[in-house]
Amino acid sequence: MVMQNDEYVKLQESTSEIMRRWCGRANVGIILGTGLGALADRIEQETVIPYSEIPHFPISTVESHAGRLILGRLEGKSIVAMQGRFHYYEGYSAREIAYPVRVMKELGASTLIVSNAAGGLNPQFRAGDVMIIEDHINLLGVNPLIGPNDNRLGERFPDMSEPYSKELIALARKVALQNAIPTQMGVYVSVPGPNLETRAEYRYLRMIGADAVGMSTVPEVIVAAHAKMRTLGISVITDMGLPDALEPASLERILKNAAEAEPKMNQIIQGVLKQI
Ligand code: HPA
Repeated sequence: MVMQNDEYVKLQESTSEIMRRWCGRANVGIILGTGLGALADRIEQETVIPYSEIPHFPISTVESHAGRLILGRLEGKSIVAMQGRFHYYEGYSAREIAYPVRVMKELGASTLIVSNAAGGLNPQFRAGDVMIIEDHINLLGVNPLIGPNDNRLGERFPDMSEPYSKELIALARKVALQNAIPTQMGVYVSVPGPNLETRAEYRYLRMIGADAVGMSTVPEVIVAAHAKMRTLGISVITDMGLPDALEPASLERILKNAAEAEPKMNQIIQGVLKQI
């Protein structure tokens, strides 16, 4: 079992290495999902650090994830962005997956913006839609907060009545409206993956109240709530999981739809950054 004191010390070591290479203080942490890394190129990059050079950082294994921390400015805000994130299906623990969020908090970030690629469950949705996450369901079967609690990082039983900030959701919707970008709203359910869902599973996930399904985001958002950060989550619907009209999944199509929807999502994120 990881001793919490160790984690606190590790956090200081990760943060010191980053601060040795970057003099700034972060306002906002951003995690970019599968096929959604282009926003990183819009950041006025001051420092770029491969994860492998940050002590205690997990190292990403999926090819479509670049695996580097970008520090710089975007829309007047000081940003720490992850280009490439960690997934449970890669073999990391939920605690490891969420570790970078704690680092972001230590660097000063009080706001977290997360994006992901997700399968649409709500039949009103279409591939290519952008969904603002209102709430989530954790079906990963794991939780990043399991183990002794370190009160310096957050409380034992964190409140989950508003893991996604109502204020940021309202702002994101306002920005979308101002830019004539249609958006959906919905509940994101996280599953371990790496296989996509069976038709019976898609039907079940819809029945329990989810609008989109993916393999990420929830561990990071739980830790952000624990750290009392306010979070905005955005899913790009890359394919539809309709149990009665299911087509074989294609990673190529998922990435293509992510790339097509990405500019809409980036516009919303940039608009939100400008106004916070
Ligand atoms: N299921 C799970 N994760 C996903 C999907 C899906 O249908 N599409 C993109 N990520």
